[in-house]
Amino acid sequence: MKDILQELETRRADARLGGGQKRIDAQHARGKLTARERVELLLDEGSFEEYDMFVTHRCTDFGMEKNRPAGDGVVTGWGTINGRMVYVFSQDFTVLGGSVSATHAMKICKIMDMAMQNGAPVIGINDSGGARIQEGVDSLAGYGEVFQRNIMASGVVPQISVIMGPCAGGAVYSPAMTDFIFMVKDSSYMFVTGPDVVKTVTNEQVTAEELGGASTHTKKSSVADGAFENDVEALAEVRRLVDFLPLNNRQPSPTRPFFDDVGRVEDSLDTLVPENANTPYDMKELILKLADEGDFYEIQEDFAKNIITGFIRLEGQTVGVVANQPMVLAGVLDIDSARKAARFVRFCDCFGIPILSLVDVPGFLPGTSQEYNGVIKHGAKLLFAYGEATVPKVTVITRKSYGGAYVVMASKHLRADVNYAWPTSEIAVMGAKGATEIIHRADAGNPEKIAEHTAEYEDRFANPFVAAERGFIDEVIQPRSTRKRVARAFAALRSKKQEMPWKKHDNIPL
Ligand code: HXC
Repeated sequence: MKDILQELETRRADARLGGGQKRIDAQHARGKLTARERVELLLDEGSFEEYDMFVTHRCTDFGMEKNRPAGDGVVTGWGTINGRMVYVFSQDFTVLGGSVSATHAMKICKIMDMAMQNGAPVIGINDSGGARIQEGVDSLAGYGEVFQRNIMASGVVPQISVIMGPCAGGAVYSPAMTDFIFMVKDSSYMFVTGPDVVKTVTNEQVTAEELGGASTHTKKSSVADGAFENDVEALAEVRRLVDFLPLNNRQPSPTRPFFDDVGRVEDSLDTLVPENANTPYDMKELILKLADEGDFYEIQEDFAKNIITGFIRLEGQTVGVVANQPMVLAGVLDIDSARKAARFVRFCDCFGIPILSLVDVPGFLPGTSQEYNGVIKHGAKLLFAYGEATVPKVTVITRKSYGGAYVVMASKHLRADVNYAWPTSEIAVMGAKGATEIIHRADAGNPEKIAEHTAEYEDRFANPFVAAERGFIDEVIQPRSTRKRVARAFAALRSKKQEMPWKKHDNIPL
């Protein structure tokens, strides 16, 4: 008996060593943690339950029968993050470069199936040379099985990808279908074809980092939602994010203890909006002042900064925030900001997270570049996402809300539940100057008359009261009491139920 127990421990120790000490040292020398160290950091101490530690591949080509490392290059199982269950897989680059064999993929599929059945998020840590070259089509089939599960799990359990090494070729499409992708600066990259192929085909010379590093994907392509300095920071931030999220689409987000007064009055908000309508101010200040303890988890911080997306808590409950940012491009809606916000709104709606929209938007960005690249279709994404969302929706207009952008930004007409406006807000078809130039074209050559008409238009329309008279705005509120008003609105909406008409699924303009 003792020998058998001893053998188990020996086998376990062997599996835990992955590709051996030399390769572990090489991994460390690159500033990367091993697959197991990452799992340990991600999960609560001692909570990891590993599965399939002794799984080996079945390939017999290219001498592979003599190289069958236990675990086959991926560590899988479940554990807890602040006491809440998550499933995890972590690719082990020290074992055959973390490459994906049929059995490696099978291990990932197994925990994805369990996550779906038991209703818990899946967190995938990616560090892999891609398809196991010795296995050929078996490897591709494995990827296909993972992809299909990504699709089935979408909107059922949150899926989070952390890229901590190579992720190239078709392999990128599994993370691409998850809800959030985080990358580590300088040690991770994602691309469909690498620098060598790019050079051959397009004659472009580019490094792996330039082509698909964390900076590229958080600033240019928007493939990734966040970039972190190192593995430790990335894993700590994933823990922080998971705390905001429900475990699945049937459960509410967790309620966290809070130590912040719900009725907290912020006098400084009364002067947040500058006197001059064209002077910018920082919308993040409002978000931080509304949030419990000023805690804000921003998503896609470095992309399309003219719109801000992320999570806060109000009375301990998670709320998704979408906010125009007047500091960047005057908070205009454009292709990038519409796409960014639409995806965020849809995530919130999938998982029952109420949405707070903070609006200061002068309209859609004009220009050939926007039109040629499809601002009509991309803008419609956000409109569609807001309109189909059935979660509680509260909107606060702080300043401008003009034209189509007024309707898009969670207006009453898109079934927002509570629409507030600050006294400083202007809800109109367009700004007074533009409107005057159109209505009074005949006076175009007379600046005095134009100024007179502009003042008249401002008096009549540059305020929240015309919309309030029609009930499009439920109440004009004091900026200083916004936290209290918004928190009360969401509290009143806690048992909101809204159904969509039966359909197989909608056809959002992709
Ligand atoms: C089998 C692999 C492997 C792979 C790496 N290794 N990639 N084994 N299949 N795909 C092994 C190496 O042989 C080596 O083994 C160990 O992993 C570490 O690799 P190195 O090359 O020494 O590491 P490094 O210099 O850091 O380079 C990492 C790398 C490179 C850039 C990822 O290994 C590489 O280019 N690999 C091939 C990538 C690739 O072409 N993959 C297929 C893409 S197509 P030893 O024993 O020496 O430690 C694809 C399609 C997916 O993925 C389709 C899905 C639908």
